[in-house]
Amino acid sequence: MSLPQEIERRRTFAIISHPDAGKTTLTEKFLLYGGAIQTAGAVKSNKIRRGATSDFLEIERQRGISVTTSVMTFDYGDRLINLLDTPGHRDFAEDTYRTLTAVDSVILVIDCVKGVEAQTERLMEVCRMRNTPVIVFINKLDLEGQDPFDLLDELEEKLSIKVRPMSWPVGIGATFQGVYDLHSKGLRLFDPGKTKLEKASTRISDLADPQLDKLLGADPANELRASIELIEGVYEPLSIEAYRSARIAPVFFGSAFNNFGVKELLDAFVDIAPPPGPRATDQGEVQPDDKRFSGFVFKIHANIDPNHRDRIAFLRVCSGHFERNTYYNHVRLGKELRFATPTTFLAAQKTIVEEAWPGDVIGLFDTGNFKIGDTLTEGANFNFRGIPAFSPELFRELVNQDPMKSKQLEKGIRQLTDEGVAQLYTQQPGNKKIVGCVGELQFR
Ligand code: G4P
Repeated sequence: MSLPQEIERRRTFAIISHPDAGKTTLTEKFLLYGGAIQTAGAVKSNKIRRGATSDFLEIERQRGISVTTSVMTFDYGDRLINLLDTPGHRDFAEDTYRTLTAVDSVILVIDCVKGVEAQTERLMEVCRMRNTPVIVFINKLDLEGQDPFDLLDELEEKLSIKVRPMSWPVGIGATFQGVYDLHSKGLRLFDPGKTKLEKASTRISDLADPQLDKLLGADPANELRASIELIEGVYEPLSIEAYRSARIAPVFFGSAFNNFGVKELLDAFVDIAPPPGPRATDQGEVQPDDKRFSGFVFKIHANIDPNHRDRIAFLRVCSGHFERNTYYNHVRLGKELRFATPTTFLAAQKTIVEEAWPGDVIGLFDTGNFKIGDTLTEGANFNFRGIPAFSPELFRELVNQDPMKSKQLEKGIRQLTDEGVAQLYTQQPGNKKIVGCVGELQFR
């Protein structure tokens, strides 16, 4: 496949949400559709995950919390999807912000009972700043949620973005019967507790069709007709260009847990979400179809293997073609580096890759060469811009209890600062060392 074809088929994105809105559940359903996992439950709750999970780091299992950004790659139809996981806990918001620099779009999950929550607003601010296209999935329709029109108003008000419903729920909670897809004009009836993949919907191209009354009952059918009329009258039709330039967010309704409305979401996503686009550098934009490879590091993990002190740098490919065992320019160090074992990730497995294309994320084995934000190129000397600086909120003084171990301490601190987990300050006079972190959890 040519470089433009490789670019066009890729969709690199993240699912973001306030904790508990259903991000993990939706991720799992996407992986099921992509054939990447075979059974529901393989990706456990992101609070505590066991076995084959998208958290593959021992350190996370020990902490019992998803602290990482892992990457799940799978095919869906003729598309290749790179789904970047983001930690749910608010103490790791910084990780999430950095991950958002490496995606081309996001899916934002909202709990229909709770509506827009604090973390949703913060995450959306980052998306707005970066002009990241957003698709909204309103989840948990099987619960007694808020009125869908109120939810749309709340989204527009609190997230400062125009929305456009792409599907519409029939009832909610106990009266929830299904979702009408405005795009394909299909009605999908709800079958609670279903964990298998969804079947085709009933096509109802004309809402006046009496079949609708038979399927839903006269009152809900009339209510749906009235709602759709209102939507078509009030909301602008979706323009893909407006969505891709982050001016309008398409909205889908469903229930991730019941695997309901998920396929519509995924199908629309692969259809309309943008492929890898141009990226800003200190020397102008780099186009993905620029033949020369370039990419940047947005995340560093230590202790991938608890028996070794090695690290993995996560690099997002921005242009050209990355190849294994080829020398590339580490711009900050002015040094040529090559990588014998670049990896891609799927859940718990790591696989060595021979090549990667724009939109892909690869893990590079690192012996201390990389810092977050570093650029790697095929010769050029530019640096990618826009990886958020991290502003610590909690500070602790470091007291070395064992002067014999000051070297180890220094090394450990340097590792944490390179990874972006902590920042080190020295207070004068007295040479006091102070460590700053974003959240309590990072001190553990
Ligand atoms: P998160 O990653 O955004 O934090 O959310 P997660 O998917 O872990 O979901 C949070 C809780 O919400 C889970 O329940 C999950 O089962 C539930 N949930 C997700 N989607 C739906 C839905 O469509 N309807 C309903 N009713 N619930 C949903 P839990 O009890 O906290 O965890 P678990 O024991 O199910 O893993």
